[in-house]
Amino acid sequence: MNDATSPATPVIPAAYFGERVTWVHHWTDRLFSFRCTRDAHFRFRAGEFAMIGLMVGAKPLVRAYSMASPTWDEELEFLSIKVQDGPLTSRLQHIGVGDTVLIGKKPTGTLVTDNLRPGRTLWLLATGTGLAPFLSLAREPDVYDRFETVVVAHTVRQVAELAHRELFERDLPRHEFLGEMVAGKLRYYPSVTREPFATQGRITTLIENGRIFADLGLPALSPEHDRVMLCGSEAMNRDCKAMLEARGFEEGANNAPGTYVVEKAFVTK
Ligand code: A2P
Repeated sequence: MNDATSPATPVIPAAYFGERVTWVHHWTDRLFSFRCTRDAHFRFRAGEFAMIGLMVGAKPLVRAYSMASPTWDEELEFLSIKVQDGPLTSRLQHIGVGDTVLIGKKPTGTLVTDNLRPGRTLWLLATGTGLAPFLSLAREPDVYDRFETVVVAHTVRQVAELAHRELFERDLPRHEFLGEMVAGKLRYYPSVTREPFATQGRITTLIENGRIFADLGLPALSPEHDRVMLCGSEAMNRDCKAMLEARGFEEGANNAPGTYVVEKAFVTK
């Protein structure tokens, strides 16, 4: 039954696709991933976000979520925090396979390669769930056509929050179609701030003290050759922006490409 008289199947508003959850994975008590079916008409550019959520009663409850899956994947994937009193995530964290999620029909966003001028190295700097858009970009062939080196730097509080670590460290370099392209170009640089780990400290500190460049064997950030995408908390974005602008980087936007772009890792509730 799919009519308005059935309370179990609320009518999906026209602005959304109703998609079926196919997989849920809880990384920690603060972080989880889920996958869902993808409508054939849902198209996006790697790095974009859409309004995602649930029907609550007869109303959509949605927040901006970056697509974490590559554009060529037949399903969609998202990475979410869990906030016990958050209006959406307190509910979303309980979804299971077969449940319906809302996917907004108009993806958008600034973390797209068209918003960056050509360069040599692409730095994708994330904290927490800010990794999501980079999970998509790191699997986009166009990114490897445009850049010689692609660095994914992910800073989290605890080791267990390094979501998809195996994807970067093990699976992608061996990937059937992307492996060859990725293996020579993709560098994964995880760091942890509140537990012992091989690389400790915030990304801002690791850039300021030069450790990340020494570890990766790459030159320090310069607007001449480097391009940067930022996706983290408001504080992380603000601090990284200031650091980049002090080095002469200029923010890019749609129709005005620059040497860096930034987006909030949106959902905090
Ligand atoms: P820290 O543990 O020192 O606060 P959160 O889970 O709160 O979103 O944080 C994710 C990661 O981002 C944590 O490792 C945190 O470090 C780091 N972080 C928080 N604020 C900043 C900032 N202003 N610049 C860089 N990293 C930050």
